[in-house]
Amino acid sequence: MWKKCQTDTLSLKYAKKCMTEVSVINSRESAEEKTRSGKKRTRNGVTTTDLIFSAYVSINAEVFPKVLALHVPKGSKVADVTFGKGIFWTKVPKDHYDLFPSDIKSGTDCRNLPYVDGSIDCVVLDPPYMEGFYRRKGTELAGSGTHQSFRSTYSNGEHTSTGPLKYHRQVVSFYVDAGKEAYRVLKTDGIFIVKCQDEVSSNTQNLTHVELIGKYESQGFYTKDLFVVVRSNKPSISRVIKQEHARKNHSYFLVFKKKER
Ligand SMILES: C[S@@+](CC[C@H](N)C(=O)[O-])C[C@H]1O[C@@H](n2cnc3c(N)ncnc32)[C@H](O)[C@@H]1O
Repeated sequence: MWKKCQTDTLSLKYAKKCMTEVSVINSRESAEEKTRSGKKRTRNGVTTTDLIFSAYVSINAEVFPKVLALHVPKGSKVADVTFGKGIFWTKVPKDHYDLFPSDIKSGTDCRNLPYVDGSIDCVVLDPPYMEGFYRRKGTELAGSGTHQSFRSTYSNGEHTSTGPLKYHRQVVSFYVDAGKEAYRVLKTDGIFIVKCQDEVSSNTQNLTHVELIGKYESQGFYTKDLFVVVRSNKPSISRVIKQEHARKNHSYFLVFKKKER
């Protein structure tokens, strides 16, 4: 049957029938396995297709509530430390969480939070994620001219950090410093949700999410989950002589859990 499935690629209907029959066989086999072992096993949970998945062609405002639903119990104290325009929260019912929004725009640096050690259940971090926002002068920031709204959403219109590093290394360094502060304010087993995007900088590929996972694990976090958000619209056209790298049309929500050091 499988051979016919593989060769008969045009017959989608037939393939679906094969899949149904295979899943029936699988469930029958697992039932038989239970009988063979002779042990009675009670399976918990309800069979459902209504699951939260690791990747969505969607927008942050749709995916963020799913991240919360899976990882942050209702009633938790959540500090969104780069709250910006609050887009993440537009589809989260107000009474589900005890939300503490802050941003550099309202005077709170996410690397120096006004919370006592171990007092927060969840920290949300979504700083400017591309090196274009970490320039020394405001006039060199990404998002000039017709891209002003992009700039005002993703930054406060000023360079994000005055650190000694340049370009992409400065982006990572910012995330690392914000991670240390998140670790301090989180309770043990607290959840740290980090939004990021990989970037090509100086014609070099930087897999930011991989770098951050390494850095945060060494700070004492466990990488509990990873979500991919794929944008449905096309990224804007830009002038390229020869394309060297795939244009990014996806970003991540990384979910970390604070372990005791
Ligand atoms: C990508 S936007 C966040 C968007 C936000 N998640 C939302 O849903 O609207 C980045 C935000 O980080 C803020 N930011 C930049 N540097 C910061 C800092 N040192 N501390 C706190 N917030 C900062 C910017 O002002 C901007 O609002």
